[in-house]
Amino acid sequence: MAAEVLDALKPEPGGHYADGTVGGAGHAAAILAASSPTGWLSGCDRDGVAVEAARKRLGERFAGRFEIRRENFTEIAKWVEVDSCDGVLLDLGVSSPQLDSAERGFSFQQDGPLDMRMDERNTVTAADLVNTEGAEELAKIFWEYGGERESRRFARAIVHDREQRPFRTTRQLAELIERLSPRAGRKTHPATKLFQALRIAVNDEIGSLKRGLEGALKILQAGGRMAVITFHSLEDRVVKDFGRARARDYTFIGGVDVPELREPRTPELRIVTRKAIAPSEAELAANPRSRSAQLRVMEKI
Ligand SMILES: C[S@@+](CC[C@H](N)C(=O)[O-])C[C@H]1O[C@@H](n2cnc3c(N)ncnc32)[C@H](O)[C@@H]1O
Repeated sequence: MAAEVLDALKPEPGGHYADGTVGGAGHAAAILAASSPTGWLSGCDRDGVAVEAARKRLGERFAGRFEIRRENFTEIAKWVEVDSCDGVLLDLGVSSPQLDSAERGFSFQQDGPLDMRMDERNTVTAADLVNTEGAEELAKIFWEYGGERESRRFARAIVHDREQRPFRTTRQLAELIERLSPRAGRKTHPATKLFQALRIAVNDEIGSLKRGLEGALKILQAGGRMAVITFHSLEDRVVKDFGRARARDYTFIGGVDVPELREPRTPELRIVTRKAIAPSEAELAANPRSRSAQLRVMEKI
């Protein structure tokens, strides 16, 4: 969605941009090119391999115009100056290098250790969750983060099987799910939702997103824009709710908006995209992994 992101952030020479999910630096390079010759980019990623790759790629063309740190974007307001940015990008989810490296354990298509940590300095892996959490907790993860309808059955089978042999590899887990729920002509693999759910849990993706949006809003200056690309409905809802809450000119106490109990306040942002933007036909054809991407844009007031 590089064209859509550039259209949203409108990078200019002299501008300051932040990319909280620099990954392979495709978007970061596009932002630096569009803000040549003097735009500055503060970027981070929690994946050490991605950080090295991004520094190398950007260094070849944009030396002296960026800083890339290995950080969780939840911490972005601790090192990027508050009220300083003209644009902030969060492009969530996993990167292609992460998915394609069997040893990172994100993919059920290839055999690898059941790991799924984006930041390998963290200690809890997918294998740890699968081998130690109770059936209730596993079912909750599969349902809440994957929308997996068979969450309870899958969780019970995992707890049963791990008594004989703990789960160590992605193949071992994918094979159990294939046995429980044969593919039978379905387009998507039966373990897709379960793998997504485990990845979200291992990396605390929803909690990180909530804190990351707060940080992104802090580092933006008035008139600066935030572009957020999500890959599933759960993430998209978090972004949508954040935007709506911060665009209101009132707050309310408790979970229910009762007009009599509203407290007036100054809105913090303006929603630029009422409806999320989906990838173009051309992008879908060139990059099928973008099929579930949704872009939302907000502007700080
Ligand atoms: C879809 S990729 C980003 C691709 C990038 N925009 C590009 O153009 O190459 C998502 C990246 O976000 C990183 N990531 C996900 N959650 C993160 C977080 N909370 N803090 C920092 N990086 C995160 C992942 O490690 C991954 O490298």
